[in-house]
Amino acid sequence: MRFNVSEINECIRTRRTIFPEQFSSRKVQKELIEVLLENARWAPTHKLTQPWRFKVFYDEGLEKLGRWHADTYKTITPEADFKEMKYRKLLERPSMASAVIAIIMKRDEKHAVPEVEEIAAVSAAVQNMYITASAYGLATYWGSGGLTYSSEMKEFLGIGEEDRCMGLFFVGYPDIDWPKRTERMERRLVTEWIEE
Ligand SMILES: Cc1cc2nc3c(=O)[nH]c(=O)nc-3n(C[C@H](O)[C@H](O)[C@H](O)COP(=O)(O)O)c2cc1C
Repeated sequence: MRFNVSEINECIRTRRTIFPEQFSSRKVQKELIEVLLENARWAPTHKLTQPWRFKVFYDEGLEKLGRWHADTYKTITPEADFKEMKYRKLLERPSMASAVIAIIMKRDEKHAVPEVEEIAAVSAAVQNMYITASAYGLATYWGSGGLTYSSEMKEFLGIGEEDRCMGLFFVGYPDIDWPKRTERMERRLVTEWIEE
């Protein structure tokens, strides 16, 4: 074996979503965020298109993100649908984190591979960040709420028409005991072996 597999298994299996409200005020240093981003770019990618792009909101950038998200939500939402709770969450959550990483899929101009493969590659990159964070004991949350999939978000992030924002990845230190396992379907229910 090349690595300590039991540790890696445990790290993957105990990776948990921890929400920004459960983050402590301790700041994750930039160098550690860089480790997550470094590992992200070693995800598999068909034809090496490397479709992942990241915009990291940090320090004052966090408030900027929250302010933009909440204000834009208010502007584009009909009054009857507007929810004050949602507005507050969009406004306040980024500032609870040390960093928020916008997860972006950059569509290869030549369309060398189907879009689903680019989304898969970016998801694998995010999983690399998740597992790395799990190893360091960092709290992370992949959120796709608010205006994630809107044209306004694309404009805010300065990405192209064919690119996609795939969510926001919040990073901090946990202020809670490490969460217990969430439910998962049994392996036999999601696996079929064909052996003859
Ligand atoms: C693509 C993607 C988008 C997600 N978006 C949200 C979200 O908008 N809100 C939320 O509460 N959780 C979101 N999650 C996190 C899931 O709720 C979480 O992974 C799930 O509850 C399982 O918990 P675990 O990560 O601790 O295993 C998202 C997860 C993925 C993979």
